Order: sequence, then C-alpha cells, then structure tokens
Amino acid sequence: MHIRTATLNGVATVEIARPEKKNALTLEMYQAMADALNAAREDDAVRAVLLAGQPGIFTSGNDIEDFVQRRPGDGSDAMDSPVMRFMRALLECDKPVVAAVTGAAIGIGATLLLHCDFVYVSDEARLAMPFVSLGLVPEFASSLLVPQLMGARRAAERLLLGDPFTPEQAVECGIANAVLPAAEVLRHARRIAERFNTLPPGAVREAKRLMCAGQRERIVATIRAEGERFAARLRSPEAIEAFSAFFQKRAPDFGKF
Ligand code: COA
Repeated sequence: MHIRTATLNGVATVEIARPEKKNALTLEMYQAMADALNAAREDDAVRAVLLAGQPGIFTSGNDIEDFVQRRPGDGSDAMDSPVMRFMRALLECDKPVVAAVTGAAIGIGATLLLHCDFVYVSDEARLAMPFVSLGLVPEFASSLLVPQLMGARRAAERLLLGDPFTPEQAVECGIANAVLPAAEVLRHARRIAERFNTLPPGAVREAKRLMCAGQRERIVATIRAEGERFAARLRSPEAIEAFSAFFQKRAPDFGKF
C-alpha cells in the first residue's frame, strides 16, 4: 500500500510512500488518507497527526495518469470523489496536523499545507502550485488562501505563473513554520506532534475549531467552486495538451489555443 499508517506515542502518522512515482497521489491513496485522518480523529489515543513523505519528495501532487484515465466526476459526483473526501477529512480534523515536508511538494502537495497546523520544510524542498501550467485552476481553497497569505501580487507569481518557491519563501509568507536540514525535518515534526501528549486534548480541539471557524464557510464554498471548475478544466484541450507533454517529456505547446 502506498499510504502507510501507524500510531505511536499519541501520534498517528500518515506516510505517503510511492517514491517510484515521486509520491504522486492516486484515487486509492486519497481515500486511504481520508480514512486515516477520520480514524485519527475518532481515536482517543491519538493527540496529533503527522503527515510525511519520503526522503527528497513529499508529494508530486495528483497522479497525472489519473487526471487522464479516472477524472473526478467520471461516473460519480465530483464533490464526492476520493480527493474531495480527503480534503474534507483534513479540513474537519480537529486534532493538530503536523506536516513534515521532506522534499518537493507540488500541486495538492503544496495546497494541503495551507490546511495543516504546523509545517516543517526540508532545506532541499521546493513548493509549487503549477495548476495553470497544466491547463487547470487552483484547488483546496488556494485561490482564496494564497492571496490572503502573501498578497495578490506574489500570489499571482505562484498561482498564475506557477513559479516554485523555496523553503525560506514558504516560511516568509507564513505557509511553513521553519526550514530544517533534510535529515532533521521528520524528527522535528514528530517532536512537535508529541508535545500534544502533555496538553489538554479537549482544549486543544476547541481552540483549533475556533481558529478555523472565522472563514470556514468561505473556505468550503471556495473548494466547491474550484472543484467544479477543476473538473471541467480536466477535459479542456489545454489540459490534455499539458498532460500529453508531461508523459512525452516535452514542453507543452499552448500557442495553438
Ligand atoms: N503523476 C504521475 N506520475 C508522476 C508524477 C505525477 N504527478 N510525478 C512524477 N511522476 C512519475 C514520472 O512520470 C516518472 O515516471 P516514469 O519513471 O515511469 O517515467 C517518475 O514519476 C519519476 O518522475 P521524474 O519526472 O522522472 O522525476 P524528477 O526527479 O525528474 O522530477 C518532479 C520530479 C516531481 C519535479 C516531476 O516528476 C514533476 O514535475 N512531476 C509532476 C508534478 C505536477 O505537475 N503535479 C501535478 C500538479 S496538479
């Protein structure tokens, strides 16, 4: 299985483990992550969740083959797809979620960080949200949260141009807490997660809910609006050209559109 889960010392770890495909996320992996987050939420022995990738790669985002073969909305309601279930589970997780960004975080790999409570990034990591470069639109409320975090101008560089950003820039704009040496990031993230063993769990949960409450409805509405546009864009000639180019290992040609 490409999602490994384990609970140890009050911390439920959800580890993305598909290094041969740079931890690209398939529908089955989203579903497994949704199940793991929901189980962690229900388990009284769990005080915090740790989300991790593999050395050198956090995740390269959605599996692009799935974008072609098994688009959300094909044969089912796009809003109830495994990716949407995963987004809901992360959004509804009322226990602290700590991300150990052990390497590149691309697409949803970067946008999911907007919904974690603590984010520690390896000094070798790069973050990128290249949705537009793939003929798509931003997802997971990134069209709302990224401009809020860094201002419209810098958000345009990330979301329209798809420029990657360094771990230092991720800290500077508030997406990440700290940059750590690659060999340290997972250990540090685990230490932070384990600190919740000494804190009152009820107060932590209520505080987290209050911290999220202010714009929760707006976030949910944005995810829905983005999801509808995203599902439609997956069928666009622009996206089909971008996916073909990725698999043919060539630059896409958008000059014909
Ligand atoms: N979906 C499907 N397969 C992916 C993938 C993805 N998101 N990311 C990587 N892979 C596959 C590659 O096709 C390749 O498969 P192959 O060995 O069968 O040819 C394998 O993983 C290794 O990837 P490769 O590109 O050769 O590794 P790299 O070290 O040169 O580059 C990345 C790593 C992550 C920078 C690069 O793979 C990448 O840009 N991936 C796509 C990221 C993306 O656009 N995600 C979607 C955002 S919405």
